[in-house]
Amino acid sequence: MSDGLNMAAGGCCGPDLSCESAGSDAAGGVSRDQVQSYYGAAAEAPQEQLCCPTAYRPEDVGHIPEEVLAISYGCGSPIAQARPGLGHTVVDLGSGGGIDCFIAARMVGAEGRVIGVDMTEPMLAKARVNARAVADRLGYDVVEFRKGFLEEIPVGDGEANLVTSNCVINLSVDKPGVFSEIHRVLAPEGRFVISDIVSDQPVPEAMRADSELWGECISGALTEREFATLAEGAGFYGITLDREYLWKEVNGIRFYSTTFRAYRGGAKTGCLYQGQTATYLGPGQAFVDDEGHTFLRGQVVEVCTDTAAKLAREPYAGMFALTGPDGSAPSGCC
Ligand SMILES: C[S@@+](CC[C@H](N)C(=O)[O-])C[C@H]1O[C@@H](n2cnc3c(N)ncnc32)[C@H](O)[C@@H]1O
Repeated sequence: MSDGLNMAAGGCCGPDLSCESAGSDAAGGVSRDQVQSYYGAAAEAPQEQLCCPTAYRPEDVGHIPEEVLAISYGCGSPIAQARPGLGHTVVDLGSGGGIDCFIAARMVGAEGRVIGVDMTEPMLAKARVNARAVADRLGYDVVEFRKGFLEEIPVGDGEANLVTSNCVINLSVDKPGVFSEIHRVLAPEGRFVISDIVSDQPVPEAMRADSELWGECISGALTEREFATLAEGAGFYGITLDREYLWKEVNGIRFYSTTFRAYRGGAKTGCLYQGQTATYLGPGQAFVDDEGHTFLRGQVVEVCTDTAAKLAREPYAGMFALTGPDGSAPSGCC
């Protein structure tokens, strides 16, 4: 176990959590209040080794003030991977000093919107001051920072095209609640791209109760499978993951930085059989979709309208030969 949160120990370190009072929103021995005071201090005093090594592309961060880069505590680069489109609305959860929001601002352009959500006032204050500098440099102002929790996101239903988060879900004491909130704020066909710390086996209860390790982005980590199962349970499909790098090994458990992508799915219109077909093209002998349908390679399968639409889009685009009701390629795809 760690013996206090300090930068000398390396990793996601900071002020000692152990003296903070436990709040009501707690998991095991850890509370949201503790996480909040921990990152409040990390906003005031930049800590070089906090969290994980993250390489941002110079062209993505050239318009971002140095102060923001100094308090960037992510473990991936979800916005660079997601590449939101012009005019899109992006919600970044646990936005911290705002780095991912400011990267997104350039990609969504003057017609887009970026909403950063964080519970920690000193982080929000830093982010808001620097938002003005970013707006001056870009020539438009599309970023706002809202105070709130991942578990109660202060954004209306279906407002976001993309939800991102960078090294934050592991800190939540109510992860199912976070996934259900992400699902709520995403528009039909919206998606999430989330970088987080995950473990190669479930973190034992004794470690989960260690608030210091929680603050270090260790003991609150899910396994990749637990993460995907929670996302699936909240209604997401097409989940993929990129394991980026091994970050640390603690008590024999390996902790990795991993980026997850998933899709919200469209509004249910009723799945109608109208003669559409899907033929799986490989690789491998068969593909099992998120609802458990098995497609054998080369076998023509009649699919309903929802499934046909889903298989035509990312992340399945190109994996199937699809035909419309009249045998032709359906419009809008291929
Ligand atoms: C490890 S830092 C990452 C900050 C930022 N994403 C980045 O890449 O620099 C975690 C951030 O998430 C915020 N946070 C943690 N748990 C939260 C929760 N349950 N609700 C809202 N914000 C939370 C903290 O205040 C902190 O700013």
